[in-house]
Amino acid sequence: MKPDVQPNKVVVLSGAGVSAESGLPTFRDSNGLWNTFSWQELASPDGWKRHPEAVLAFYNERRLQAWQAKPNAAHAAIASLEAAYEVVVITQNVDELHERAGSSNVIHLHGQLAYARGTSEMPKRYRIEDAPISMGQLCEEGTQLRPDIVWFGEEIQFFREARMHVATAARVLVVGTSLSVYPAAALLNVARSRAQKVLVTLDVDKWPFGFTFLRGKATQVLPNLAARWLSEAGRVA
Ligand code: OAD
Repeated sequence: MKPDVQPNKVVVLSGAGVSAESGLPTFRDSNGLWNTFSWQELASPDGWKRHPEAVLAFYNERRLQAWQAKPNAAHAAIASLEAAYEVVVITQNVDELHERAGSSNVIHLHGQLAYARGTSEMPKRYRIEDAPISMGQLCEEGTQLRPDIVWFGEEIQFFREARMHVATAARVLVVGTSLSVYPAAALLNVARSRAQKVLVTLDVDKWPFGFTFLRGKATQVLPNLAARWLSEAGRVA
């Protein structure tokens, strides 16, 4: 049996596009990270085995950049929805701009730059904020520290929880993602037919069934959308 839809619940699935206007590069746009760097070398367990120094250097730079970035109007619009809705943000982003804009319930599907972890089976996480990780830096169990990022081929810890949220949402907002990475993109398959579903990106290769597509920059589209959803809930934006 399917779980009940919660009329007051909004689920946001976000990707790199929502942080692009904060100065953080996306992955697959023309100036995207995976058009400059090789994900096989930098975001896979194999790459980590082959040249950990290069992997650490790549993420050290990204960590600093993410730490210095500021949330933009799109992050703020998403956070503003909490005035009227129960909001769960499921993000593929490894920055913390949703939290810094005020979102209080954020699930990071692909990890967080601000944490490091060991390389054992059940590693402990350590909050490092903007600090670099170096070779030879060990966790308490004695294994090398690595970024707390979910690399290609690795398991997503919070996937079941994320699915449950999408399946019970009355409104689903997908923003700034190319929907090309699985299993994150498969979350949309459990969105309910009667839920209000909106996709916001600059362009769309995949137009998920039942979604209204609003083409445009997240900082321009989301404040209006949030204001509309707040007024539909009887709140002034
Ligand atoms: P992509 O780079 O694949 O897609 C970014 C999307 O954002 C594209 O559809 C753009 O059109 C859109 N976009 C760009 N600027 C925008 C703006 N200002 N406003 C609105 N939309 C904009 O990024 P993701 O889908 O997030 O994983 O990539 C998914 C995963 O692939 C990432 O989490 C990352 C990567 O490998 C890991 O690092 C584990």
